[in-house]
Amino acid sequence: MSAAPPRAFVVGWPIAHSRSPIIHNYWLHQLGLAGRYEAVAVAPPDFADFAQNLVASGFVGGNVTLPHKQKAFGLVAEATHSARRLEAVNTLWIEDGRLCGDNTDPEGFLCALDEAAPGWEAIPGEAVVLGAGGAARAIVAALIERGRGVVLANRTRASAEALAAHFGDAPKVVDWRDLPAALKRAALLVNTTSLGMKGQPPLDLDVGLLPQEAVVHDIVYFPLETALLRDARARGLRVVPGLGMLLHQAAPAFARWFARRPQVTPELRRLVEIDIEKAL
Ligand code: ATR
Repeated sequence: MSAAPPRAFVVGWPIAHSRSPIIHNYWLHQLGLAGRYEAVAVAPPDFADFAQNLVASGFVGGNVTLPHKQKAFGLVAEATHSARRLEAVNTLWIEDGRLCGDNTDPEGFLCALDEAAPGWEAIPGEAVVLGAGGAARAIVAALIERGRGVVLANRTRASAEALAAHFGDAPKVVDWRDLPAALKRAALLVNTTSLGMKGQPPLDLDVGLLPQEAVVHDIVYFPLETALLRDARARGLRVVPGLGMLLHQAAPAFARWFARRPQVTPELRRLVEIDIEKAL
C-alpha cells in the first residue's frame, strides 16, 4: 500500500477568509504532486495541542496566522534566524521528529518589493513604515537586513517605540502628525496598518509629498488596489500591491513541506485576484 499523500494546513482563528489554500493547492496541482493543503480553524486555547499533535493528525506541517504566530514561536523546538528575530512563526514543519518554525514574511515582503520595484535599493532616503503590529515587525526586520534606515509611525506611539526597542532602537520613531516631513525624505513608504482595507477608513496621507522616485508598498490586498496605491500611481510613483507579499511568503513555506520551490506565476496571481474580486 502506498503512503497517504502529505497534507499541510493554514491554522488561524478565524480562518475562512484565507487565500493560502488557493495558492498551495495551485502549486501542488501545477507541480503534479500528490498532497493537500487545507484551512483549519483552531481557537487560541486549543492551539498548543494542535501544534504538538501535528504528526498524529497526519500533517507534514503548515502555516500559522493570526492570532497564533507568537504562541507558535514558543512551542517550536527549533526556530530559524528569521523566526527568532521576530519571535513569531508563520511556518511549521517536522524534522527528525521535532517541531520546527520559520518566519517567511520578511522574505515575502522583500521578494514582492524586488519584483515590483527593481532597483529600489539604489534610491536614497529612508523607508517610512506605518503601523506597529506583527506585519510591521517583519517588514522592519527585512528593511534593516537590507541596510535601509527605517522611520516608524503608528497611531499609538508607544507601540512604535516598543517595536523600535525590539530592534535595538535602530528604527527612528516619529509622531503620526510629523509624517509629512518624513515623507519628503523617503525612498519607500510601506503601509502595514489596516487603513485602506475594505470596511476600514482610508489612509489619509498626501503622497504628493514623496520624492518622485519613491516607491509605495501597501500590504493591504483587500481591495487589490487601495486608494493609497491609486493616488501614488496617479502621481507617477512606482507601487507594490499587497498581494505580492502574500504570494511570495508562501513559496518558501511550500518548499519546507513538499520539497519543491514553487514559482509565483502570473497565472497564480490572477487566480487569487479573481477570488478577491469575487469577495469584494
Ligand atoms: P498585524 O499583526 O496584521 O500587523 P495588528 O497587530 O492588528 O495587525 O496591527 C494593526 C496596525 O494597524 C496597528 O499599527 C494599528 O495601530 P495601533 O497600534 O494604534 O492600534 C493600525 N491601525 C488599525 N486601525 C487604525 C486606524 N483607524 N488608524 C490608524 N492606525 C490603525
